[in-house]
Amino acid sequence: MRADCNRARRLAARPRRLYTARVLSSLKVRHFRCFDAFEAEFAPGANFIVGPNARGKTSVLEAACILLRLQSPRVTRLAHVIQHERRGLVVDGYFGVRHMQFYLSRERKKLALDEVEQKTAREYLEIARLVYFGNRDIEIVHGSGEGRRRFLDFVAAQLDGAYRKTLRDYERALRSRNLLLKSATTRWREIAAFDEPLLAAGVRVAEGRGRLIRELQEPVNAAHAAISSAREKLRLEYVPGGGEDFAATLVVARKDDARLRQTTAGPHRDDVAFSLNGLSSDIASEGQQRTLVLALKLGAARLLEQHFGTPPLLLLDDIFGELDLARRAALLAALPTGAQQIITTTHLDWAPPDSAARVLRL
Ligand SMILES: Nc1ncnc2c1ncn2[C@@H]1O[C@H](COP(=O)(O)OP(=O)(O)OP(=O)(O)O)[C@@H](O)[C@H]1O
Ligand SMILES: [Mg+2]
Repeated sequence: MRADCNRARRLAARPRRLYTARVLSSLKVRHFRCFDAFEAEFAPGANFIVGPNARGKTSVLEAACILLRLQSPRVTRLAHVIQHERRGLVVDGYFGVRHMQFYLSRERKKLALDEVEQKTAREYLEIARLVYFGNRDIEIVHGSGEGRRRFLDFVAAQLDGAYRKTLRDYERALRSRNLLLKSATTRWREIAAFDEPLLAAGVRVAEGRGRLIRELQEPVNAAHAAISSAREKLRLEYVPGGGEDFAATLVVARKDDARLRQTTAGPHRDDVAFSLNGLSSDIASEGQQRTLVLALKLGAARLLEQHFGTPPLLLLDDIFGELDLARRAALLAALPTGAQQIITTTHLDWAPPDSAARVLRL
C-alpha cells in the first residue's frame, strides 16, 4: 500500500513528456549560475538552445553534466557554480524513467534517485553517459597535462564504475603525502606509510588510463578519418607519470620529493602524447589541432556506444560557429546516429533544417 502511494506520488511528480528511452527529458535548476530558477524539456534527437551571449546557454549544458555525472565541464570546484550570494543549488531531471536530483551547498551535498537518498554515487552514476564538446577543448591538445588527464578521467569513470573511487583514493593518499613533505623536517618513516595506498591506487589509475588510451585509438582514428580530408595517421600514446614501474620510480624520486617538498612521480603527472604521421601535435596547425580534439571527443562517444549499446548524450557547446562549412558538415555527419544532442548557439542560421529538432530560446 505504502509502496503504491509512493509510486503514485512519483508518477504525479513526473513531467508531462517522459521518454522511456535513455534520454534526458527534463531539467530543472535552482540557484545555479545566472539562474534563479530555470526548467526545460528535451526531445530525443537534436535540441537547440539559442540565445545571445551571457544568457546562460553554457550554464544549461553544465547543469545537465552536473546532474548526470556530478561534474562540471568548466570548473573543478563545484561550489563556483552556486549562484552568487546563495547557499546552495539544486539540479533535478529525468533520464529515461529515472528521477535524478542533486543538492549542493558549501557544507554538504545530497543525491537522490527516484526520491530515495543515496549514500554513495555508485548507482546514480550508472544511469547516464555523456560527452561534452566545448570551444575550450583545444586546450586538451595544446594546454597542460591536467586537461588531458581530466578528459581521460571523465571517460574512464563512465566506462568503469570503480574508477572514480580509485582516483579519489589516489588523490587522498597524494594529499596526505604532500602535506608531510611540506613539514619542516622530512619524516620518511611517516611519509612511507602513505606509499602503500598511493601505489595501490596509483597502479590501478595508471592501468585504467593506459587501457582507455588503447581502446580509444581505433574509434578516434575512425572519427579522425571521417572528419578530416587529409589522411594523416593519428596516434595516441600514454606517458605514465609513474614510469614503467611506479614502485621503483617512487623510491628513486625521493631525493627530488624532499628537495621540491612534493611527490614528483605518479599518475598526477600522467600525460598523453598525440602524433600525426609520426610528428608531435605540438607542431600541428590550429586547424589540425581542432580536428584532432573533435576526433578525440567523437572517438570517446563511439567507445561509450560500443560499450553500452546506446550512444551517450552529446552536449555541444557553441562549437559549430568556429568550424568552416566543410568541417561543420563532416562533424554533423560523424555524430553517432540516434544520439540525443543538446546544442547551444547564438544564431540558428547555420543549422541543418530538421523539423524534429526542438528549439529553446533563452
Ligand atoms: N556563480 C554565478 N552566479 C551568478 N551568475 C553567474 C555565476 N557564474 C556565472 N554567472 C553568469 O552567468 C551568465 C551566463 O553565463 P554562460 O556562460 O552560461 O552564458 P552563455 O549564454 O553561454 O554565453 P556565451 O554565448 O558568451 O558563451 C554570465 O553573465 C555569468 O557572468
Ligand atoms: Mg557559452
